[in-house]
Amino acid sequence: MSEVAASVPKLVQYNSSGTLYSSNATITRITSEIFDVNIQSIILTLVAVFILSAVWSVLSIRNSNLPKGPWGFPVLGSFPMLTHYPELTLDKWARKFGSLYSVRLGNQLFAIVSDPGVAKDLMITQGAIFSNRKEMFMKSQIVFAGRGITATPYNDQWRKHRRIANTWLNQQAVDSYTRVLDFEATDMLQALYIDSKNGKVHINPQTYAGRCSLNNMLTITFGFRTDSIHHPMVAEALRLSRAFMNTTGPMSNSADFVPLLQWFPSPLKSRAKALHRDLMNTYGGLINDIEKKLQAGEKVDNCLAKTMLEVKKAEQLDHLDMSILASAFMIGGVETTASIMQWFTALIPAYPQIQKRAQEELDRVVGRSRLPTLEDEKNLPYCHAIIKEVERCHNPFWLGTPHTAMEDFVYQGKLIPKDTVVVLNTWTMHHSETRWDKPLEFNPDRYIDDSLPTSASANLADPYERDHWMFGAGRRICPGMIVAEREIWLAISRMLWAFDMVQISEKPIDLKEYDGMSGRSPVPFEILLKPRFDGVGEVLGKAMSGWKAEGLA
Ligand code: HEM
Repeated sequence: MSEVAASVPKLVQYNSSGTLYSSNATITRITSEIFDVNIQSIILTLVAVFILSAVWSVLSIRNSNLPKGPWGFPVLGSFPMLTHYPELTLDKWARKFGSLYSVRLGNQLFAIVSDPGVAKDLMITQGAIFSNRKEMFMKSQIVFAGRGITATPYNDQWRKHRRIANTWLNQQAVDSYTRVLDFEATDMLQALYIDSKNGKVHINPQTYAGRCSLNNMLTITFGFRTDSIHHPMVAEALRLSRAFMNTTGPMSNSADFVPLLQWFPSPLKSRAKALHRDLMNTYGGLINDIEKKLQAGEKVDNCLAKTMLEVKKAEQLDHLDMSILASAFMIGGVETTASIMQWFTALIPAYPQIQKRAQEELDRVVGRSRLPTLEDEKNLPYCHAIIKEVERCHNPFWLGTPHTAMEDFVYQGKLIPKDTVVVLNTWTMHHSETRWDKPLEFNPDRYIDDSLPTSASANLADPYERDHWMFGAGRRICPGMIVAEREIWLAISRMLWAFDMVQISEKPIDLKEYDGMSGRSPVPFEILLKPRFDGVGEVLGKAMSGWKAEGLA
């Protein structure tokens, strides 16, 4: 206590009746009384909460009508068991408790769905009940300030934002800017080709993939792009996306489930506040710039920001709405597609035989005088299968974005109470031995006869036939599926076409570790990119000249 008193600066201070305190001795006594009272009441509150929560959690878990699940600690529930590799713990519990079980974290009950049939019955068939979101303290309340689309409850505000988002993400809209995706994939390939210096330089493809996804989203959202990985926006936007993924895990923040913790300062809370501020400054700032240009009568390329500004009166959008919706695009659409490209480049060097087979297919169907295109995809089933297998093995969102029950629902005799958070346990679904032979192995052949895009596979009547669950399910399913699939196809098919991707023996790649609590990317790694044949540089150069002539490069 004396340390606290010593740190009180000798400033003029007033008591409640306006009397001036000026001596440090008086301050010491008063500070010490305040602290004693506070500490006593905090301890008493904590003990009371601890006892109540212990009784409550035991009683609720014993409620036989809830789906069975693991025991948890008082106050925190099962939170301490989910701090490292939560997907593996959830998988272990799925094996013990079955395809629908319950877990309690703090004051929040979770229902964990680990089977496609249950996922369809709840999230799709009962979509009117299971499409809500919990207003998570860190993600919804602080970072997104209750706005946007990803984190908002299932209500009219969400419907409006989803409708506006769809004007830029539906099939027709994506068709209108597919040439941008095509150009950005070519630009990334050329940058990788130049910087890897004929396969002599160790290269980390992550920033290249990040910039490719970033440029696509910048063009769609704000109508501009970056011209190299050294552009300041590349580092800033990728930093914001990573900060988001590291601050907003669906089961990783105890303050989301233990309300008492929300009152105390914490490094994570400060990071979430800083992230909100940075999103507003960066993406809100870009919206301000575009608004000024429009007001000055300057030309602004079509983009989401322009659309929002044009309809803002009619749709009653304020600056916070527009900034957070734009942020949702920049976060939802950048680290995600980039993550799949990154996992692909991290794992494919270990499979030279798979690369060889894909390259034989590319040589046969596309040849060596041009790059593979979107139209080629239907004729390249093995390349298509490689992508689906990367997505099955390295879904960036193992725990999806949880949904919440809007009312009590009884499923197969078990009660899922209103406000239960429903998590799609995709790690278990993607590694089911019933569905997949040797599920831990990377084997594109399992998808060789599956020609459907994932966005179409998501509509299959039989959920056990669906390729994977990377994009979620039901009414909140990712609206960016079509653009994501096109970006990923163009980037990965072209990397396979251009390079032999080779491991560096003294730099082993760690595929078990990852970076991120909600969306996961590989930890930094390096590989060699060896052009497959002499003409690679020439074909890339020609393609880029074509884009220049069209005014894109
Ligand atoms: C590999 C790429 C991507 C993955 C794995 C992915 C995954 C997901 C998942 C799991 C959800 C939650 C779905 C649910 O609640 O069931 C989601 C929602 C969302 N995604 Fe994506 N996404 C990707 C790309 C994109 C792209 C390119 C965009 C473009 C802007 C985008 C925008 C959104 C938005 C706005 C939501 C919120 C939807 C809502 O709550 O109604 N995503 N995404």
